[in-house]
Amino acid sequence: MKKFDSKAKPAAQVVGIDDISVYVPRLYLPLVGEFSRQRGIDPGKLLKGIGIEKMAVADAHEDAATMAANALLDLMRRSGLRPEDIDKIYVGTESAPDEAKALGTYVIGMMEQVYGKGSFHECETVEFKAACIGTTFALESLCYWAAFQDRMEDGGAEGDLEREKAGVVIASDIARYPLSSSGEYTQGAGSVALLVKRDPRLLAIEQVWGAFSRDENDFFRPMGCATAVVNGKHSNQCYLDAVQGAFDSFAARAGRRGIIRPPEGCCVTDFMDRILFHIPYPRMIEYASAAIFRHDWKRSSKRKKSRQQEAVEAEIGDEPLAEEFRDTGELQAAEADYSRRFSRSRTFLQAFEAKVKDTALLSRQVGNIYTGSIYLGLASLMEAQKLMPGERLGFAAYGSGCSALFFSATVQPRAEEVAGLGLLQRLQERREVSLADYERLHEGKAERSILKPAGEFILAGVDGQGYRHYEYIE
Ligand code: HMG
Repeated sequence: MKKFDSKAKPAAQVVGIDDISVYVPRLYLPLVGEFSRQRGIDPGKLLKGIGIEKMAVADAHEDAATMAANALLDLMRRSGLRPEDIDKIYVGTESAPDEAKALGTYVIGMMEQVYGKGSFHECETVEFKAACIGTTFALESLCYWAAFQDRMEDGGAEGDLEREKAGVVIASDIARYPLSSSGEYTQGAGSVALLVKRDPRLLAIEQVWGAFSRDENDFFRPMGCATAVVNGKHSNQCYLDAVQGAFDSFAARAGRRGIIRPPEGCCVTDFMDRILFHIPYPRMIEYASAAIFRHDWKRSSKRKKSRQQEAVEAEIGDEPLAEEFRDTGELQAAEADYSRRFSRSRTFLQAFEAKVKDTALLSRQVGNIYTGSIYLGLASLMEAQKLMPGERLGFAAYGSGCSALFFSATVQPRAEEVAGLGLLQRLQERREVSLADYERLHEGKAERSILKPAGEFILAGVDGQGYRHYEYIE
């Protein structure tokens, strides 16, 4: 395994993701079987309509902090990082166990059990809360920092050597909706840690961030509530509007910066080999891809029709035009019908298959991990061996409430040096949990863990003041 080389001279201003680690609880609930029978849901709806087979379930000794620490420890071991190599730990979460204390301070407490007391004293940590987009805002922030940070002086054995510090972004969440609600089968749990630095081995981020924000009530969790309030169908629409807004913002900014300037008849997405969306459930990325490709192919056709627009029109006819309908009801019906036909068209399905489909490989087995789920998409591409040096990836992050960010990154020549994650194997080794045990864990009524902890951080207890105590179990 290639070790993190703290003395390597980085290329100026090239920043991005050097390595990634994913932690997923070792328990899962299959959606087809006891769950679908008890809830009276057709398995076809769960497997095809929603797209999830298994939901990851956090055990009684797990919370967002233990999962974050487990992901960070793995990242440090994979990359050969020492505590003094890390300047910042930024955590994206909406499942933090404390209203004031930063989750990262608990994580640092856990890491110091392994690396020694005080080993992270000089590390900064802060929490980013913005529903499922918190981690992406943290990543944006660390990328700017990495690009402009002053080189640090080491004063190591050889004297005045410069040592570059890295930042870590951690996403950690337990997605929880009320039992028997329509959100229940889109739950999940897990954590993703990203190593952010200059001269990254995996992805160089192009530092064009397209943004969109709007005040919405699609999904939120008022103080004191254990589960989110969700207006499901509305949340899908907010997601689509926001991602489209961020995509347009990205297209304009990338054009101004000269990063992507499609010639006439070409589209912005022609310059992306893959697009990774936030994945609340795999079916959502089909809706999102259809919306983005349709919008991009049509938009790029203003002066000269794009190849894709011509192909779609040949397959399913022209887009409905407002002036052809007597009232908004008729127009909406025609629009819904055209959308349905678009999402079944060969032209769209080929684009989806080539650029998007593989990003949901792991989400089907894990469910929604909220702010880390878009990066679970990145891990999916790694697991499927679909990250090719030189390719450009588009990322569409969404967080309810609501905000979206669209950015791009290029796969680096050294991507192959990054060790495999072995996640598919780890997911196969998980233990199935019964519906009754899952419900007890969900309601916080499980008195003891289902699996004996080993080689991981655990929540050992909560004291009378509400302070949480964590331990590393060998
Ligand atoms: P629902 O009522 O469970 O499902 O709501 P549905 O009735 O809309 O059906 C879904 C699809 O299954 C439909 O496909 C059905 O036809 C199909 P479509 O018509 O759209 O093509 N279907 C079947 N297919 C095959 N065989 C069958 C069958 N029956 C039906 N037998 C919903 C789904 C996602 C709204 C619900 O699960 C929910 O509220 N989930 C939680 C909210 C959510 O995930 N929203 C996503 C966007 S917001 C977001 O991503 C942010 C978030 O991650 C939070 C954050 O930011 O922190 C959630």
